[in-house]
Amino acid sequence: MKIICAKDYKDMSRKAANIISAQIIMKPNCVLGLATGSTPIGTYEQLVEWYNKGDLDFSGVTTVNLDEYRGLPRDNDQSYYYFMNEKLFSKVNIDKSRTFLPDGMEPDSQKACDDYNHIIRSVGGIDLQLLGLGHNGHIGFNEPGTAFEAETHCVDLTESTMKANQRFFASMDDVPKQAYTMGIKTIMQAKKILVVVSGEDKADIVKTAFFGPITPKVQASVLQLHNDVTIVADEAALSKVNL
Ligand code: F6R
Repeated sequence: MKIICAKDYKDMSRKAANIISAQIIMKPNCVLGLATGSTPIGTYEQLVEWYNKGDLDFSGVTTVNLDEYRGLPRDNDQSYYYFMNEKLFSKVNIDKSRTFLPDGMEPDSQKACDDYNHIIRSVGGIDLQLLGLGHNGHIGFNEPGTAFEAETHCVDLTESTMKANQRFFASMDDVPKQAYTMGIKTIMQAKKILVVVSGEDKADIVKTAFFGPITPKVQASVLQLHNDVTIVADEAALSKVNL
């Protein structure tokens, strides 16, 4: 596990974007696993900036996102499809038919999950998976206690995750209660993993997840077992660990 200490959020975003750029340059037809949430926004902005300068070409890139809310249509501005389009896909020369997320509108959850597992296999697996870190240690929407063996599955979001998401919705009633998420097994099969973490409010979970015992209670702790993980975290997020 490699930990890169960034000065602040901007520096974290730039360093993470550098790693993703290197992946695209080294393998122009790579498969990127992508995340939503607030942490990677600066990373996507940086990638778009470099694309606009002519330094990056997304034409051969395939993407598979970690998760999608169940029941939110793609044109809902809180769906992860909408987010990815806004932050990245509509701003670079990626082939939209090669950008994949779980189908949040598929009512048959088994089918939604099977279809997504099939897509991930058929693109040949993930070269580089970008992850954010939830306050309870979740990655994707793999909540505490989920079996590490899980592939794509439908989850009931925990109270704490729904509360954290509330800021994006008009009221608590509008916050989706379920999501489809890539499972830990699939995430762990990615060739490389890049975790971005920012802010003092993540300092405790950084310590617990990456320096504590490996347990399904803290889903991100499993990353300690992966052989190519890079964590790019700012000073605030690393303030409770001694490097
Ligand atoms: C997003 C995702 C989540 C977030 C996590 C951190 O696709 O799967 O696991 O990465 O909740 O969110 P932020 O970055 O908003 O703190």
